[in-house]
Amino acid sequence: MTDLPGLPATKPARPYFSSGPCAKPPGWSPEKLDTAVLGRSHRSKLGKTRLQYAIDLMRELLKLPETHRIGIVPGSDTGAFEMAMWTMLGAKPVTTLAWESFGEGWVTDAVKQLKIDPTVIRADYGHLPDLAAVDWSNDVLFTWNGTTSGVRVPDANWIPDDREGLSFADATSGVFAYEIDWTKIDVATFSWQKVLGGEGGHGVLILGPRAVERLESYTPAWPLPKVFRLVSKGKLTEGVFKGETINTPSMLAVEDAILALEWAKSVGGADGLIARSDANAAALGKIVAERPWLGHLATDEASRSRTSVCLTVEGADEAFVKAFAALLEKADAAYDIAGYRDAPAGLRIWCGATVDTADIEALGPWLDWAYATVRAQLAA
Ligand SMILES: Cc1ncc(COP(=O)(O)O)c(C=O)c1O
Repeated sequence: MTDLPGLPATKPARPYFSSGPCAKPPGWSPEKLDTAVLGRSHRSKLGKTRLQYAIDLMRELLKLPETHRIGIVPGSDTGAFEMAMWTMLGAKPVTTLAWESFGEGWVTDAVKQLKIDPTVIRADYGHLPDLAAVDWSNDVLFTWNGTTSGVRVPDANWIPDDREGLSFADATSGVFAYEIDWTKIDVATFSWQKVLGGEGGHGVLILGPRAVERLESYTPAWPLPKVFRLVSKGKLTEGVFKGETINTPSMLAVEDAILALEWAKSVGGADGLIARSDANAAALGKIVAERPWLGHLATDEASRSRTSVCLTVEGADEAFVKAFAALLEKADAAYDIAGYRDAPAGLRIWCGATVDTADIEALGPWLDWAYATVRAQLAA
């Protein structure tokens, strides 16, 4: 017990390291929200103006080309991705890629709900499947950044320009953290609750021209609930991409997203966000490199996440991780850093743009303290 380290001197100023909902932007406070639209109809002139403004800011920050539409839909990222699956799949054979829990969720949807018998290409936690083996005559579903294993696709170069099928990217913890070559993307989805530090509840759906062509030329065999319907009389419902949402959105969540997007612009837009995330991941990488008992679950650096960084802890099982994370939470040093329930036991530390690098740096000694303390507790 004598070599138990004392409490570290400095705590992370904002101990928010959850992988979703993620830390609010630095300086965020509810007083900063513009509340003029609250209590008003989302279809009022003001309501539509604010929704359109949120869309315009996202387009600008994502550097989305004019070829691609972007709209706000119900159901957070899950709603947006399932809306895409339910409206567009079934026209062609489908390949689903899965290397962690969320990608596996889309496999379940395709196999058990839509029953479209997809080709499934899997890899274990910590690894990517062979992206070169993908047959692009199929529609292909993948997760840009696997939030529960900390493995991402390194880029979009593996997606051919002349693909026959459509590319569907669940990009919820990838957008605003990596450069995305939109020419390779037919469908992408995300939620404000991740890299922007916004709220859940709404999803964002991005459609390239080939996805719109699919929507207008193909009617799936299964029924579509109203919240999934993007086509009326054979034509895309363009209003969805101009702030005319399918049903009532939370304007409070919309205002919160606007605040986050304006903050994002103030730190240099997409490039600024990516730089912040890179700096956070590098700071955490240094902490890992300096500690023999910590390791990266994602073995290949090129496909290692710079947002949801997943770590192995020597000798730790689920109970150890639970005690470790609870100790740090109680000390207000780090919230929500236990790995995802389906992932191998370990830690997951969000390094997205809304986290400050100084807070990641301050975490190192706290991890040491928690590791020594839990080991001593378990040995006692
Ligand atoms: C890769 C990925 N896909 C989907 C989801 C589900 O997102 P939501 O809860 O916003 O629907 C998450 C949430 O953590 C995720 O990380």
